[in-house]
Amino acid sequence: MTHVKKAVIVAAGAGTRFLPITKSVPKEMLPLLSKPLIHYNVEEITSSGIKDIVFIIARGKEAIVDYFTPAPALETFLVAKGDAANLRQIRALPKMAHFSSVYQSAPLGLGHAVGTAKDAVGDEPFAVILPDDIVDSEVPVLKQMLEVYKKHPGNILLVEKCLPEHTCRYGIIDAETVAPGVYKVKDLVEKPKSEDAPSNLGIVGRYILMPEIFDAIAATKPGKGGEIQLTDAIRIILETQPVYACEFEGTRYDTGNPEGWLKANVAWAAKGK
Ligand code: G1P
Repeated sequence: MTHVKKAVIVAAGAGTRFLPITKSVPKEMLPLLSKPLIHYNVEEITSSGIKDIVFIIARGKEAIVDYFTPAPALETFLVAKGDAANLRQIRALPKMAHFSSVYQSAPLGLGHAVGTAKDAVGDEPFAVILPDDIVDSEVPVLKQMLEVYKKHPGNILLVEKCLPEHTCRYGIIDAETVAPGVYKVKDLVEKPKSEDAPSNLGIVGRYILMPEIFDAIAATKPGKGGEIQLTDAIRIILETQPVYACEFEGTRYDTGNPEGWLKANVAWAAKGK
């Protein structure tokens, strides 16, 4: 079993569910209390033991990369003011991980976005993080997945039971249980109507994928919504590799829309985090 050393954060989306603010501010930079949402994604990754992070971005989303880039002028200003606390905080950000970024050339779907990370990832397993999903948990949710990966080497999806009327929001798996909360995936379908859904297990925005996914993505035709879907690429992988799915301990917030973002902020405020 090869260790997972890299994580790809897909942050190229236009944020249409959060317009108008996302016209000029990347949704990933909206605050969860005092820090931008993306800070929590990076914390989840690094506290799971992964220190190499690739951002997939689009034009206009450079603020995400800037946040983790050294800011010499700001540092000089804070030094002159004697503001040691803020200086420490600002200097720590670029040191959280090794960061790189890649542009998605056009909004052609999640599968296409992940495919743009091919050269940055190389020939090794990697994690994919969809930053809208923020999970409040004792053990970082990616770490929970890496534990499953140790016992069940292969591609790992994260799933959560959803209401029948919500199957149309998620990739839904058809699977058999192999251990408590762990499933062997037999098939998966992108955003089916409840009557077509093979189960109530919806995919949450975390994946551990083998590098063969890149060839599968290249072979994937546009699917739901005319987009190149990661779900469809994983269906191709199913023919040659094991795909597992696991449930998790924790509470998930979909921060990509105003209601979910507000719920996350209320929950974090209540904890005094
Ligand atoms: C994507 C995936 C979907 C998954 C979801 C999780 O959809 O295509 O299979 O369930 O992320 O957040 P999106 O939310 O980007 O439309």
